[in-house]
Amino acid sequence: MDIKIAPSILSADFSRLGSQIREACAAGIEFIHVDVMDGHFVPNITIGQPVVRAIKPIAVENNVPLDVHLMISNPDQFLDDFIEAGADIVNVHVEACTHLHRTIQHIKEKGAKAGITLNPATPLTAIEEVLPLVDLILLMSVNPGFGGQSYILGSTKKIRRLRKMLNEGRLSHIELEVDGGIKSDNVAEVVRAGASIVVAGSAIFNHTSTVAENIAALRKACKNL
Ligand code: DX5
Ligand code: ZN
Repeated sequence: MDIKIAPSILSADFSRLGSQIREACAAGIEFIHVDVMDGHFVPNITIGQPVVRAIKPIAVENNVPLDVHLMISNPDQFLDDFIEAGADIVNVHVEACTHLHRTIQHIKEKGAKAGITLNPATPLTAIEEVLPLVDLILLMSVNPGFGGQSYILGSTKKIRRLRKMLNEGRLSHIELEVDGGIKSDNVAEVVRAGASIVVAGSAIFNHTSTVAENIAALRKACKNL
């Protein structure tokens, strides 16, 4: 089965971020996943609009969209900034949005694709009403905040239930992205359950193998599905 891979640059070596992203692009990836954390919505601080702006030319050169995951409180305040900096997809956490419908509309009006993200503890019913409006749903399979955590086992059932909801609602064009703890030994389970995009950070950027080898291992694990 063909899978779409979105390497999370959170696990990349920031001292040579450009070359790490180029390496991933050369290996053939579908998205570049950018984890933005504010130290408030999640207990960690990472990167913001300047980094999105800096890597945008590399994304354009390689024709790979920037998938920006906003783990920040009050995301409305920064939507325009991130879209102007070059975000192609803007993912907001439903737990951080008081007026989720308005937020989705705003992202789309500004010309970006709208993604909505759910923490592991947030039920799928939270997104029922806005489902037809979004381009992508990002299911967290770890509690957001850090790379390198273990996949929460109950996530597979949730992916399966969401895939069913999408199919039954004739909404299978909506991307179902899964993020957190995905490695070559569990990626098949995630894809079989219904994910169309998988995020992987520490499984791609590490000292064990090259970026290209790690990407190839993820694809290989899904080959015979
Ligand atoms: C978690 C982030 C993820 C994470 C992925 O808060 O949203 O994108 O960094 O990293 P791994 O694949 O190492 O879990
Ligand atoms: Zn992420």
